[in-house]
Amino acid sequence: MYQIYPRSFKDSDSDGIGDLKGIISKLDYIKSLGVDVIWLNPIYSSPNDDNGYDVSDYRNIMKDFGTMEDFDALLKGMHERGLKLVMDLVVNHSSDEHEWFKQSRSSRTNPYRNYYHWWDAERGKPAYRYSLFDVNHDAWKYDSLTNAYYLHYFSRKQPDLNWENPKLRQEIYGIMKFWADKGIDGFRLDAFQFAAKDTTFPAFPAGFEKNFVQYYAMGPHLHNYLQEMNSGVLSKYDVMSVAEGAGNTFEDAHDLVDADRHELNMAYAFEGVDIANDPKGYSLLHFKEVFSKWDSVFAEKGWLSIFLANHDQARMVTRFGNDNPEFRDVSSKMLTTFILTMRGTPYYYNGDELGMTNIRFDKIDDYRDMSTLNEYQYQKNTGGDLKQFMEKIKFSCRDNGRTPFQWDSSNAGFTNGTPWIKVNPNYKTLNEAAQKKDQNSCLNYFRKIIALRKKYDVLVYGKYTLLDKSNPDVYAYTRELDGKKLLVLLNFKSVPASVSIGIDLSKAKVLINNYSTASNGGALKPYEAIIFEL
Ligand code: NOJ
Repeated sequence: MYQIYPRSFKDSDSDGIGDLKGIISKLDYIKSLGVDVIWLNPIYSSPNDDNGYDVSDYRNIMKDFGTMEDFDALLKGMHERGLKLVMDLVVNHSSDEHEWFKQSRSSRTNPYRNYYHWWDAERGKPAYRYSLFDVNHDAWKYDSLTNAYYLHYFSRKQPDLNWENPKLRQEIYGIMKFWADKGIDGFRLDAFQFAAKDTTFPAFPAGFEKNFVQYYAMGPHLHNYLQEMNSGVLSKYDVMSVAEGAGNTFEDAHDLVDADRHELNMAYAFEGVDIANDPKGYSLLHFKEVFSKWDSVFAEKGWLSIFLANHDQARMVTRFGNDNPEFRDVSSKMLTTFILTMRGTPYYYNGDELGMTNIRFDKIDDYRDMSTLNEYQYQKNTGGDLKQFMEKIKFSCRDNGRTPFQWDSSNAGFTNGTPWIKVNPNYKTLNEAAQKKDQNSCLNYFRKIIALRKKYDVLVYGKYTLLDKSNPDVYAYTRELDGKKLLVLLNFKSVPASVSIGIDLSKAKVLINNYSTASNGGALKPYEAIIFEL
């Protein structure tokens, strides 16, 4: 699964914003990678408070991105090349500029009132709900027009839809059918674990009001809604489905995707991607433990997504590898090897195939992400340490992963206009044009390892066994299926490291390696990755 952030991929009309025609112009490139499916971040009409995650018309295309004709051409172009399309479905909330919300807020008796969550002010202030994006961290916004509060877990311009209302649910299924009838191949359900709510809005235990996953996810009827969605829409089309997030427990995750429950196809859990949140580094032992645990829980039943990045994260190589020019390529290839050799469906974020890195803005004005700007304001208003905050976001802000795709050495080849967010200055040397000519580039390594995964079913379905578990530097595991056995060795450190696996490698064949010659298996070079066939 190759994820495209349309705003930053390729601009065709010089307005500085990526668009559908831009993606169309790069379909041959995408095909050349060997990926099978494209997940597009939202492309529906939107005032862009949250870059398309605030939809004002679910049956239309965002003006910045083009027209419905462009969309049809894009889908056709993908299908002609054997590529599938997964659309982002943002239905935990809409934009406050959606017609439903305009109606809903206009009066207490409007037929759309119950499409959203309102709390009449004469009942007093509702129990506190945390908002991830609000400048005051408050998810209830008072609206004087009808003397009531409305709920928004994300920004004020993203009011939460009321899934408890059957009419709203039918509207959403209608929207899904509209796109499925067009022939798309799947849905990624944005923030869906938060959709179902206890509409009595009880107070959460003191001190836990901000525990978002534990108290806000997997509300009372969530599974019923998914089963209803499955029987009404998903089961009627040849589409795949994945929800963002997998609840709070393994049981939640299983319940979302066990085939006999008829809900979704694939779990997308955050525990792995959340590990690298400290610029000082992370523990490989922890990393191994998390990925091994998730693999074992899904070994017999259910199916996982494997990923280390997406549009809500800073760059993979900066967070999990080492973006110092000395180690950038090799650590990026090592991480790519990890993603492509685990059991589950690999999700790969555009630009990571080049080893794109964090931009590390110095000034708050360079950031575009509304949630970051609001948090900056919150810190300012509450006397927070702004210097510390600025340092933190250099490492972790999602805008680092949203800088324009680096196509070539001319203004990155992304746009002829002024890009909506600054281009990473390393585009002059780090770009697709340069890498395509270099057989040893990250880009060509990505192509090779995808081809390898397609050739070896064992990499997709094979049993996973962790070796040398307590090794703090090297991640070693085997994959086995129908008599085939592969060994994966990954040095996660910038210094040579040894590994003790108790396997005779004298007859083993190296299938891929991220250096020009592979080590013999006992000692690994910095960030070395090797796959052996045993
Ligand atoms: C999760 C999306 O991935 C993120 O980009 C967005 O800001 C929130 N959901 C709200 O839709």
